[in-house]
Formats: sequence, structure tokens, C-alpha cells
Amino acid sequence: MKKVRVAVLGYGHLGKWHCQKVVAHEAVAEFVAIVEKFPAGQDLARTNHPKVKVVSDIQEVIHEIDAAFIVTPTSTHFELVKYLIENNKHVFCEKPLCSDDQESQELRKIAGGKNLIIQIGHSERFHEAWDQLRERFQRLNPPYSVRINRVAPFKGRATDVDVVQDLAIHDLDLLSFLFKQKPKMISATGHKIRTQKWDHVAIHVLMENKCEASIVVGRNAVKEVRDLEVTSKDGMILVDLFTNKIYEASSSNFNDGSFVKEVLYPKRDHLLLEHEHFYSSILHHKPSVINLKDGLNAVHLVDCTLNSLETQLPVTVKDLE
Ligand SMILES: NC(=O)c1ccc[n+]([C@@H]2O[C@H](COP(=O)([O-])OP(=O)(O)OC[C@H]3O[C@@H](n4cnc5c(N)ncnc54)[C@H](O)[C@@H]3O)[C@@H](O)[C@H]2O)c1
Repeated sequence: MKKVRVAVLGYGHLGKWHCQKVVAHEAVAEFVAIVEKFPAGQDLARTNHPKVKVVSDIQEVIHEIDAAFIVTPTSTHFELVKYLIENNKHVFCEKPLCSDDQESQELRKIAGGKNLIIQIGHSERFHEAWDQLRERFQRLNPPYSVRINRVAPFKGRATDVDVVQDLAIHDLDLLSFLFKQKPKMISATGHKIRTQKWDHVAIHVLMENKCEASIVVGRNAVKEVRDLEVTSKDGMILVDLFTNKIYEASSSNFNDGSFVKEVLYPKRDHLLLEHEHFYSSILHHKPSVINLKDGLNAVHLVDCTLNSLETQLPVTVKDLE
């Protein structure tokens, strides 16, 4: 295979950006189709991509593609992923991979034994800050504590799901990625403010090394905050993911006598990198950079959090290995 023949499923808010990234990779990707269910989105897709076939159902183009990007609402992911795997297509699925553990189990069975690339859109793993900090975080001596905030004023988007599936999934995934620690116990409290679903949730996570993380996610906040802070006996590191700055307060002064060091790190195009990895995995038979297991783990952590919200009790996280 010289080029990956692809379709993008869903021409909504994020689907438009995915289409741009397919176009940007024309050397390795052939843009075969946009699959959009509704006429308004189809018209827009035809205007913006006149050379690309626009259809309303994936079945119309399934025999013309090698791979697909699923950028449809979360409730549709399971059926689409299942259909694509059953038809031996490589899959990039936006987070979350599916809605709950039951769907996860089935996807695991269907994908087992198939030699397909399945990549999940946990895009928060691609911040440049992690290139320099991830190794440091993994070398930290316990005890340390992690605090993550991901809140924003109400925008009326993604209200088909709660903030655990929409926002906290990024942070639950980041804990495993950045600290190489499995969450062992999760407890959560939340509020339904704007919608019938959880709009603001505070999650407490106990990790296997007994360190603690606190995650606050919300879509009805007074201002946008996206940051991650790690504190240990060596000091504090705060990463502001909104302004792309790393702040550090060490256990002693820095060389210039200051207490706090501030470094700006470059913002990069996460989606572009995700596409690059996906095509490269398919064309060069390399493992997926964020694979099915990562997606299943994240869905399980979301399930545990929702369970704790409903029961108001701590929930033990299962080991999915
Ligand atoms: N990685 C990230 O940071 C990130 C950011 C935003 C959204 N997302 C994820 O991307 C997905 C889409 O989010 P969005 O904000 O673009 O939603 P959206 O509602 O703006 O767009 C979804 C589009 O899919 C279309 N659609 C629905 N069912 C379809 C089907 N069966 N086949 C084809 N098209 C169908 C809808 O008509 C709509 O145009 C969600 O799963 C969301 O969680 C991820």
C-alpha cells in the first residue's frame, strides 16, 4: 500500500479539522469520502471539499477505503467501530472509544486476532510539555500529589454526554500516560447544572503507588482553566495547558535567585501529529501510538467515575490486563 484510502465520518465541529489534516497528508493519504448523516453538513462538506465523495452512510463507501476516522457523537462510536473492524478497516476513533464497559468487552472480542491499527483520539497526550516532563514525573519519589483542572464557561457543545466522557476522560488517560500509574480507587461528586447530565465533577483518584490525584472538570465555569500541577518534596511543577507555560517552584532557589521559574513551550498541532502517527502505523506496520487497550482503559475509568457519582461511594478500578 502506497497511500491509505480514507473516509472521515462526521462533518461537525471536529470533523472539519480532521478533513483538513487528511488533505495536509496527501502524500500518504487518499481522501476518498466524507460520511455525514445530515444534509446541512453534507452541503458544507461538498462546498469545502468538491473533489471528495460525500455520502450519508459508511456502507456506501466501505469497499473503497482502507481506514476511517470516526468523528461522530460518542453514542455512535460503538456501532461504527464494530462495523469497520468487522470489515477489516483500520480505525481512528475520537475519544471516547465507546460508551461503557459492556461495549468495550464486545470491541475487545471483535478486534482480537485482527491485524488492524486502532488509534484513539486522546489528543491531550500530544502537548509538547510532556516531552520534557513525562520522564521526570515517572522518576518522582512518592508521595506526590496531582491536581488537574479542566473547566470552561458553558458553550452548549457536547451536551449529548456528561463532562466525565467529554473532559475527564482526557485526564484519567493522562494519569496513566504521564505517571505510568494505574488508578486503583476512584470517588467522585458532581452537579447537574445546565443539562440533565453531569456538568461539573470533582474526582479523587488513588493510584497504585498510593499517590493521589484530584481532577476537576466542568462546563459551567466563570473562566477557562486547563492546568496540571504536581507537588512532591522536590517542589511544585504547574503546566498551564491554556497558555502553554510551565511554572516551577523548586525546593531551593534557582541560579538567578528566583523562587519560581517560568518557561513558555511551543504550541503544536495535536491533530496533525495524530494523523501522522496513524498513517505511519498503517503504512510501516508500526504499533498504534494510542491503542485499543488505552481506549478500553479510559472507558473503564469513565465507567468507574460515573458509577461513583451515582452511588456516591468509592469504586475499585478493575485491572483490564
Ligand atoms: N480529542 C478531542 O480533544 C476532542 C475534541 C472535540 C470533540 N471530540 C470528539 O469528537 C467527536 C465529535 O465531536 P464534535 O464536537 O465534532 O461533534 P459534532 O456534533 O459537532 O459533529 C458530529 C457530526 O457527526 C454527524 N453524524 C452523526 N451520526 C453520524 C453517522 N452515523 N454517520 C456520519 N455522520 C454522523 C453529525 O451530523 C455531526 O455533523 C465526539 O466523540 C467528541 O468526543 C474530541
